[in-house]
Amino acid sequence: MRMIDIIEAKRDRKVLTNEQIQFAINGYTAGEIPDYQMSAFLMATYLNGMTSEETKCLTLAMAGSGDQIDLSAVQGVKVDKHSTGGVGDKTTLIVGPIVAACGVPVAKMSGRGLGHTGGTIDKLESIEGFQTMLSPRQFIEQVNRIGISVVGQSGNLAPADKKIYALRDVTATVDNLSLIASSIMSKKIAAGADAVLLDVKTGNGAFMKTTESACALAKEMIEIGKNAGRKVGALITNMNMPLGNAVGNSLEVIEATQTLQGNGPQALTYLCTELSTAMLQLAGKGSEEHCRELVQEALGSGRAFEKWKELVAAQGGNTDWLDDLSLFPKAAVIEPYYAQQDGYLSGYDTHGVGLAACLLGAGRETKDTQIDFSAGIVLEKHPGDAVRRGEAVAWLYTNSAERLEQAKRQLGQSVFLSEACPVPEPMIYEKLM
Ligand code: URA
Repeated sequence: MRMIDIIEAKRDRKVLTNEQIQFAINGYTAGEIPDYQMSAFLMATYLNGMTSEETKCLTLAMAGSGDQIDLSAVQGVKVDKHSTGGVGDKTTLIVGPIVAACGVPVAKMSGRGLGHTGGTIDKLESIEGFQTMLSPRQFIEQVNRIGISVVGQSGNLAPADKKIYALRDVTATVDNLSLIASSIMSKKIAAGADAVLLDVKTGNGAFMKTTESACALAKEMIEIGKNAGRKVGALITNMNMPLGNAVGNSLEVIEATQTLQGNGPQALTYLCTELSTAMLQLAGKGSEEHCRELVQEALGSGRAFEKWKELVAAQGGNTDWLDDLSLFPKAAVIEPYYAQQDGYLSGYDTHGVGLAACLLGAGRETKDTQIDFSAGIVLEKHPGDAVRRGEAVAWLYTNSAERLEQAKRQLGQSVFLSEACPVPEPMIYEKLM
């Protein structure tokens, strides 16, 4: 078999066989197929698409390219959750403890932030002492002992995806349904959970700009998961504004903690309640109504907050910081962004808000950038709120005064005001369960 024949077949819109896809993925992972041939293959796939069968084969080939985590030593139905990425998305920090408090084990591998979106592992590391690298034995032992562990992804989980994703990033081949679906599902399948809940984001801060394209992506991923013997459900959710008020690592941990204490922003609390409910449904805990009651009980009784503290303590984090949120280090510079006119806040360019937070130091421009944990943005106003000229729309947090002006300009371009009150948008567009 030759890679050139596989590229030619995809260029000419032919359907590839499982053997051809395996050959391409194995050869590329082993370094036997060069970047230029994989790039040509990706562009042909981007332009001509793949059938569902080809996408499934691609996913399984990538899932099998490295470590496959064996969670069979963890008792119970293991449910994973994956968000397709957004700004201010701290749901794992909230949903994980809720679900664990309801008796469903959470064995979660999460990533770091890159570009305008944040990552759960960076957020957790903003808590003093929190360890995100556990050995597989420690990881499983902790899940069996307290019902939850959240760690960084093993370096060798779906290495084919790691290499291919880096190539897609620089060859304009990221936003293709088959390539996104196979990339996400290969990692989920290799991570070993029995069931996966997908939080597929749509809107101006997401890969999928329309509800239709987000639904199509979700359906493709559900199908792939089913074929691989996993239960998969999806919620299609709004990313036309950042999730909650806080964007930035320790700011988001503080907001997640407040949410677990029952004092979080309403939209965030609602989304986390629905995500947790769906995860319990996938774990076989009963009807949607019953699962929602379990979630509300775990939140209302304080058991979810106690589980959060247990998780942080088990991984070496300082739980005093969770009991007294003022112990989180504060940014040296905290400045308002003022409204330039009277009106209503009609919306945000969510991607732009994420970029402004990165400029303040909350994100990485390259893999080696050192994150400023206390940097970020706290939104004061939400779509539909009336604003007066000179009133604070948001607060910028940073330790670098030089970055402030550039970040303020970026935020200014990302805040939209209008004379008329905008029509409210739903937080959840669709549930595919
Ligand atoms: N997230 C992934 O892991 N892969 C993609 O292709 C897009 C989002």
